[in-house]
Amino acid sequence: MLNQDVERILVSEEELDRTVTRIAAEIDRDYKDAEHLVLLCILKGSIVFMGDLMKRITVPVEIDCMKVSSYGAGTVTSGRVNIMLDLVRADLGECDILIIEDIIDSGRTLSYLVDYLKLKGARSVKTCTLLDKPSRRVVEFTPDYVGIEIPDEFVVGYGLDFAERYRALPYVGVLKPCVYEK
Ligand code: IMP
Ligand code: MG
Repeated sequence: MLNQDVERILVSEEELDRTVTRIAAEIDRDYKDAEHLVLLCILKGSIVFMGDLMKRITVPVEIDCMKVSSYGAGTVTSGRVNIMLDLVRADLGECDILIIEDIIDSGRTLSYLVDYLKLKGARSVKTCTLLDKPSRRVVEFTPDYVGIEIPDEFVVGYGLDFAERYRALPYVGVLKPCVYEK
């Protein structure tokens, strides 16, 4: 049954499943010779995507996490990127890092992270996002792997939240406007 706060489903469970399987196959193909592929999960929004994606990747992977924030409390971006939690691994010299992100909006988070990880000495840094809102870019940025391009709408579910809610929905949906106005 549809959550009562959701106006409509934008990406169904079936489409998410097909998309994650397709991206995993692309990663398998591109990283078949990698010795230290690190999937870097950007908390918290990417945990569901990360979990589904890593199960479908067959090349050897290591995982790590970072927590960053560029968003304020609601749906409006603050324009600054803060590192709240850094990766556990310190020596990145042998690592091919693939950043796993839930959604690209302004592009600030990913462009900042790519620079940060290169400065830390990573062997290579690439980016993978489940959802992309290209019409919202403030910073020029093209991810290496993209799941689905979506229009300029605020979405929740499959890890994505509004004020920390709705992350556990199994699909990506658009909230009813009255939810924001509360
Ligand atoms: P960017 O730095 O503006 O590209 O922002 C990316 C981050 O903003 C994502 O990782 C999300 O945490 C958050 N974000 C952007 N759009 C949405 C949305 O529609 N729903 C939920 N979170 C979003
Ligand atoms: Mg995020």
